[in-house]
Amino acid sequence: MAGPWVRLTGEKRVGDRASAGPPATRAQGDHGESPPSAPRLTKATLSDTTRLHHNAPPQALKGPSVPPPGLLQSRCWMNWGSEGSQHHEDMEGFLLAHGYQLGRTLGEGTYSKVKEAFSQKHQKKVAIKIIDKKEVPEDFIHKFLPRELQIVKCLNHRNIIRVHEMLKSAKGKICLVMELAEDGDIFDYVLREGPLPEPRARALFRQLVEAVWYCHDSGVVHRDLKCENALLQGNTLKLTDFDFAKQLPRDRQELSWTFCGSTAYAAPEVLQGIPHDSCKGDIWSMGIILYILLCARMPFDDTNIPQMLHQQQKGVSVPGHLGISKECQNLLRMLLEPDATLRPSIEVVSRHPWLTNP
Ligand SMILES: Nc1ncnc2c1ncn2[C@@H]1O[C@H](COP(=O)(O)OP(=O)(O)O)[C@@H](O)[C@H]1O
Ligand SMILES: [Mg+2]
Repeated sequence: MAGPWVRLTGEKRVGDRASAGPPATRAQGDHGESPPSAPRLTKATLSDTTRLHHNAPPQALKGPSVPPPGLLQSRCWMNWGSEGSQHHEDMEGFLLAHGYQLGRTLGEGTYSKVKEAFSQKHQKKVAIKIIDKKEVPEDFIHKFLPRELQIVKCLNHRNIIRVHEMLKSAKGKICLVMELAEDGDIFDYVLREGPLPEPRARALFRQLVEAVWYCHDSGVVHRDLKCENALLQGNTLKLTDFDFAKQLPRDRQELSWTFCGSTAYAAPEVLQGIPHDSCKGDIWSMGIILYILLCARMPFDDTNIPQMLHQQQKGVSVPGHLGISKECQNLLRMLLEPDATLRPSIEVVSRHPWLTNP
């Protein structure tokens, strides 16, 4: 049984609540003192198929509780190497020729597979993200991939995975050779550890703030911040996956019409297809990440978008038994502010007392 819940919207505690019921109960739970919707922690694997489709028509997000057309992208994964494929290419041989000895699979994303490798040149292990151009949508190849490659080359920060080299194979595969984060992503970490004590969550979240601050300060918006894209190297958090990142124009004034990211981490304005400031979208996603670190649960149920939009307006609840401090709840509330114009910039977030306190 979950303990009493504390709703974060409004200034005062709404009161003790019954445990979250099964999904059917939660789906009806929008009337009065309903139990909070706090879905169990689920990897954005669904979102690795439900990454918001760029250019999905906004109206598709309204209406019944079915994913909007275009929202569900088919999971496209390339076959390669010994797994066999009609586009068979000896990636092991190709990478070995470049001095990389392939090892185990570290992770799989929507358009890529990430493998561990030993670099003879660096005499250490690295991670190699392999993207098969033949297997991914046109707009990804022509729009998102070139941006990612351009952006990652320029980023240099201790909390961002460093890209060492890019290789192109004869048959159209792109390999990003990166720094290895040998301790996995923070999704798996929270799954293992459960809700993190505040000092631990703070230590990790501070590093995410540093990484995002550096990006925004450099005019780069990430647009797919989520637990699976925040990796661990010991106690050091390293942000990765700049698939959907974008370099803002110099004046930083541009509003985005592009809907990308993962539904569970998407801000209301992104879900609704309202032209938006992508930096504020990143801030919202950071709120979702902080909630997951602290509660080991998803704050919103992203299986029903209209209902999720409603939940986002009402605000999230944190389980009372976790004893999350008022200061921390205040930060969560600021990050998960449904009105993007009231949501703080990363600079303001970095000065929040919960983060600046030792
Ligand atoms: N540098 C790395 N070190 C260790 N694991 C990694 C690294 N990069 C990616 N991974 C793992 O692979 C997964 C997919 O990588 P990612 O770059 O996020 O690809 P995608 O764009 O397909 O989501 C990550 O969630 C993570 O678990
Ligand atoms: Mg990813």
